[in-house]
Amino acid sequence: MSIPGPRYDTPFNIARLSHATLYVRDLDASRRFYVDMLGLLVTHETADAIHLRAIEERNHHSLVLVRSDRSAVGHLGYKVHAEADLDRLESFLSGEGLTTSWADVPFQERTLRSVDPQGIPIEFYHRMERLPSMLQRYGDHRGGKLQRIDHFNCFTNDLQGSVEFYHRMGFRTTEYTVRDGTDVLLSAWLQRRGSVHDLAFALGVGPRLHHLAFWVANPLSIIDLLDLMATTGYQANIERGPGRHGISNAFFLYIRDPDGHRVEIYNADYSAIDHDHEPLCWQFGDPLRSCLWGPAAPRSWVEEGSPFIGQEPSAPLVFADHTGSVAA
Ligand SMILES: [Fe+2]
Repeated sequence: MSIPGPRYDTPFNIARLSHATLYVRDLDASRRFYVDMLGLLVTHETADAIHLRAIEERNHHSLVLVRSDRSAVGHLGYKVHAEADLDRLESFLSGEGLTTSWADVPFQERTLRSVDPQGIPIEFYHRMERLPSMLQRYGDHRGGKLQRIDHFNCFTNDLQGSVEFYHRMGFRTTEYTVRDGTDVLLSAWLQRRGSVHDLAFALGVGPRLHHLAFWVANPLSIIDLLDLMATTGYQANIERGPGRHGISNAFFLYIRDPDGHRVEIYNADYSAIDHDHEPLCWQFGDPLRSCLWGPAAPRSWVEEGSPFIGQEPSAPLVFADHTGSVAA
């Protein structure tokens, strides 16, 4: 396939990715991981749910942990520029043959929910409760000092369908991987806000979340986090890295939370805001693609992901021997 061209004429305007919900089996253990160790800030807490934000975020939450008897992922959230965008998105999604509903979500005003064509639950909102910036309250920064949510990365069993659907919503591809010497697409990175990506996809058993990522100020923050994890009982939660992806140029670390949900700690990508940014094509066999420095990804990182709630993953429509194709 070829990558669709950029669209700037959508009748609605998605600003960026915003937040995710994770269903967790031991809320106390998840709190220790995300708050005590990674340093996310608690903005609301009940016996059954914890709302969290990172230190530069003025939105009320970028991650919601919900107590559950099953580990899973809820809706992936996106922010739109204007309230009227929500109504125009509802028309668009209905025109795509997708079901939509209006949800009453705490700390968010009108929230539109749907499920994308490949089975990923998504939601859109315009206004979320706003909070004072914590960026320069350095005395309150803890643990991993996560600064902001950066992207989602998902397995999809229909990569072409996923890329074309999100392009119809105005997302633009920055980089992609093909099977060597062919135009068979194996993974793609798509953005709305001028970064390398808000959202990435890899062809595989899907839909599943491969990881969600938080941005940190510099690579040394990742080294400090590794020392912290190694000496506070989280060494076994370190899965891959640190390293540098060829794709995106990111300095990365992948860790697993107590439920096995994967979190990437991410830094050092580049700006892709130009309207004429040409998508960069990688051959799958390029040794620089997944890790510039060489070490292969562990099997768990290649194969494992978190299911979305209410969605049963299934094998790709097109066979893909894509070991290591997901990245960044
Ligand atoms: Fe990533």
